[in-house]
Parts: sequence; structure tokens; C-alpha cells
Amino acid sequence: EHLGIAVRDPEPVLKLYEALFGFVPYRSEAVEREGVRTHFLDAGTVKLELLESLHEHSPVAKYLAKRGEGIHHLAFEVEDIDAAFAQLGEAGFTLLGDAPKSGADAKRIFFIHPRDTHGVLVELCQQTEQVPPATRVPFAGGSLASYAMGRAEAPALLMLHGGLGSVESELLPVMRELQRQYRVISFDFAGHAGSRDVPATPELRGIAQCEAVLDAHGVDAAHVFGFSMGGTVALHLAHARPDRVRRIAVLGVNSTWDEPTIQRAKQRITPSFIEQHPDWTAHLAALHGPAWPKLALTLSDAIDAYPGRHLTSAQLAALPHPVFVLAGDRDRIYPLEHTLHLYRALPDAQLAILPGAEHALHRLPPRPLADQLHRFYSSTD
Ligand code: CO
Repeated sequence: EHLGIAVRDPEPVLKLYEALFGFVPYRSEAVEREGVRTHFLDAGTVKLELLESLHEHSPVAKYLAKRGEGIHHLAFEVEDIDAAFAQLGEAGFTLLGDAPKSGADAKRIFFIHPRDTHGVLVELCQQTEQVPPATRVPFAGGSLASYAMGRAEAPALLMLHGGLGSVESELLPVMRELQRQYRVISFDFAGHAGSRDVPATPELRGIAQCEAVLDAHGVDAAHVFGFSMGGTVALHLAHARPDRVRRIAVLGVNSTWDEPTIQRAKQRITPSFIEQHPDWTAHLAALHGPAWPKLALTLSDAIDAYPGRHLTSAQLAALPHPVFVLAGDRDRIYPLEHTLHLYRALPDAQLAILPGAEHALHRLPPRPLADQLHRFYSSTD
């Protein structure tokens, strides 16, 4: 997952890696309890975590006093940190601490004593689904919860979640990957999750929300990614405000609204249907609050109006932006034929069909998706 490097002073080390390879830190963060400040660099296939001591009693200060600067630990990601802790403890490894603890980058971590690992301090870590602090963006009498990650100077990338989704439940893992190369900006759509105090509106009001969020972050034009409803908003934003959009990637987006498709899309967001599934009902109540059925009805009603409002083939053909169209081959909401129709209607499009993927961004492995998106956004053709 990363290499930890103990440094006395981060400044000359950061200058060194920039001079050598052009690496610049995309995230710096103090972990007060450990008395350390961490600086993350993206080295392509691996991350570097520079560790700077905040006071003389910190573990890193003791390490520096004893051994000097250099490689401090190797970190490996695991799926279940508590299970790993129990299993390795039972197997007789000497583990540092009584339980996994919170570390930098919203991770839970623990270390194995180097005497059990041939002199290498080994960290095990698990990513938690913890959103960074929200920026409140005033909108329609309330405020939208917006989240930004990555360097302020990096190219801006606006990421849009699907209907009844949220930043936390859908976008966060991919955002974490892409923060290495981009200023990743996202927000919960009106009526959703952290933006639940703004009344939900039909999805095309999403264009105004995107503009308000870009303005709040001082961004004129951004790459855009959108999943499902977010993808629809991305295309409409490109149509309405072509100057604010650079390259667009959409996943699980439909542009052909025949009656069976409308019914499939509506059914899965109709409260009476959702309430037949207790887990999903509980998930939506936790995510969006007790008013989630109202949100679901607003979105479901909006779908009835899609046929008269979707971008026509002529409008799609006039979009000047490169568009990357992605879809799962097991998407049961939107047929692949519709995806192909969208791809063919766009003048400058690329297409990826994801094997085994359903209409569910949160089930996709984040790293391969982030890699595909980065290749597209950083391409100059
Ligand atoms: Co580490």
C-alpha cells in the first residue's frame, strides 16, 4: 500500500523527489496521537509516506535518534484489519498495541514487531469509509455538502454520484485513488446525504449545483465523472455549459428512454418497492435521513419527464468534449444497446464494457476503474 520513510525535515526530501521524478505531495496530515505529520507522494505503482516527527517523544523521533533517516516501514492493505489482528496474534506474532488504531489517510492500522519479520517493520492497514470534512456550499436556501481531495494545483475533476447514492456510499474509494493525480471535487446532490437540507429537485437542477460547487472551489473548468443520474447530469452540464467541462467519463448512463427502460429505472427507486428490502430501506434511511421516501419519489417522478428532456442525437453529436462511455455488461437497468447508441451518437467517444459489472459503482474495484479514468483524462488525443 505504501512505503513509510522517516525524515528529519520534509522540505529538502520533498524537493529531492520532485527534482528526481517530479513527485509532489498530494496529501499532508498530522496524526496528533502518534506525534507525526505524514506527507503522501504518488510514485505510480506505490505511495511514499514521509514521516515527520512533531515532538521529541514520538515513535518517529525515537526511530530517527536511534537509526537516522531512511525506510521506516512497509504497509500492506488487508480487507479485514480486526480479523488480521486476531489471526496474527494467535499465530504468535508480536503486535504493537492492543488493537488496530486510526492512522493517516482515514485508515485503521497496526504494526508487527520487526523481530518477527526479519528486521522490517510491517504495517497492516485497512481503508475506512470516512468522508473528509465537508465544505458547505450555499444553494437554494440551504447548503450542499462538498468534498475535495488532492492537491489544489492538480487538474480539477468533478465526480457525480447516482440517484439515491452519495459521495460516501459510491464515490469515496475511487476519489481516494484519483486524489493522487487530481484535485477531486464532489458533492452530495440536493436532498441526498449531507445535502438533505436542500429540497430534492429533478436531476437537471443538478447543473446549477455543479456550477455552484465549481465556483465555491474556484474552478473554471473541470474533467467530469458521473455515475447513472450523475452521468446524465454530466452530459447535460457539458451541453449547457461547454466552457466549464473538459473531458467527461460516464458510467451506467442511459440516453434512450423507451417505456420498458423508464419502468425499470423507476421501479428500483420507488419507495413501495424499496420497502420490500429491509436492508436497503435501512441503508437509505441511514444515508439520507427519514425523508428518504420523499427523495425517492421526486427522483422517480422525474424519470417520467425524461423522454421530453433527454439530449437528442443531434445535441450529443454537437458536444465538443471527448467522452468516455463505460457500462457493466450485467447492467440490468440499462441495456447495452442503449450504451452503444450513446457511444455512437457522440463525435469523440471511447467505450469500455466492464466484465461482470452490474449497475453498481460501489461494487467495482476502485483501483482499476481509477486507472482507466486517469488514462482517459490524461490523454491528449
Ligand atoms: Co504507514
